[in-house]
Amino acid sequence: MWSCPAARRGYRADVEFSLATERLRVRPWMVDDAQAALATYGVADVSGWLTPATDRIGDLPAMRAVLQAWVEAQPNLPPPRGRWAIERLSDGVVVGGLAIRLLPPYEVDLEISFQLRPEEWGNGYAAEAAEALIQWAFTQNVDELFAVAIPNNTRAIATTQRLGMEWVGETTKYYDRPLQVYRVRPSGLEDS
Ligand SMILES: CC(C)(COP(=O)(O)OP(=O)(O)OC[C@H]1O[C@@H](n2cnc3c(N)ncnc32)[C@H](O)[C@@H]1OP(=O)(O)O)[C@@H](O)C(=O)NCCC(=O)NCCS
Repeated sequence: MWSCPAARRGYRADVEFSLATERLRVRPWMVDDAQAALATYGVADVSGWLTPATDRIGDLPAMRAVLQAWVEAQPNLPPPRGRWAIERLSDGVVVGGLAIRLLPPYEVDLEISFQLRPEEWGNGYAAEAAEALIQWAFTQNVDELFAVAIPNNTRAIATTQRLGMEWVGETTKYYDRPLQVYRVRPSGLEDS
């Protein structure tokens, strides 16, 4: 189960956004999350799977600059687009992040993506947080979300299956490289 005060009020960037699940909270990034964020985005095991191909964030100042850019961008993004931290309720540790973005080049399809620090893989956190975010997204005039995965990214593909996403096919249209495409619609989430 998840609760969503932000969704009930309607999303506004200046309102504290928070989605609570059984074990997690999905909330906006803060620049002071840099150390924890680096444990996700500074690790080649994570960055190597990201699309578009993303360099590993090299150090704390670089991570702070990236977070600063995300924090500044957020108020200008129409919901449900954005980037959020995944915080564990039991100890407040940021275990990873989530994003909803427009896929290039046509910028029509919305992609949900998830990233966890490797020592937190295998706990069901990505699926739990992403499910809450997807449910919230479907309250924001959105009726489908896509996930794209490098073909041998078995962990990401398994997460799409836990989320009830259906396989759409393989395409090179988004980032000029073959990607497996998955989609979820509100009815799919109910069935999962
Ligand atoms: C993709 C990624 C987020 C998946 O992480 P994950 O922890 O495997 O994902 P899930 O949240 O779906 O968790 C499922 C795992 O938790 C286990 N698990 C433990 N407790 C669980 C619970 N309460 N509920 C559900 N699953 C649970 C499952 O058995 C499964 O483990 P297994 O794969 O070893 O069998 C992670 O591998 C990652 O960050 N990869 C790099 C970035 C990336 O590829 N992102 C996706 C493309 S943007």
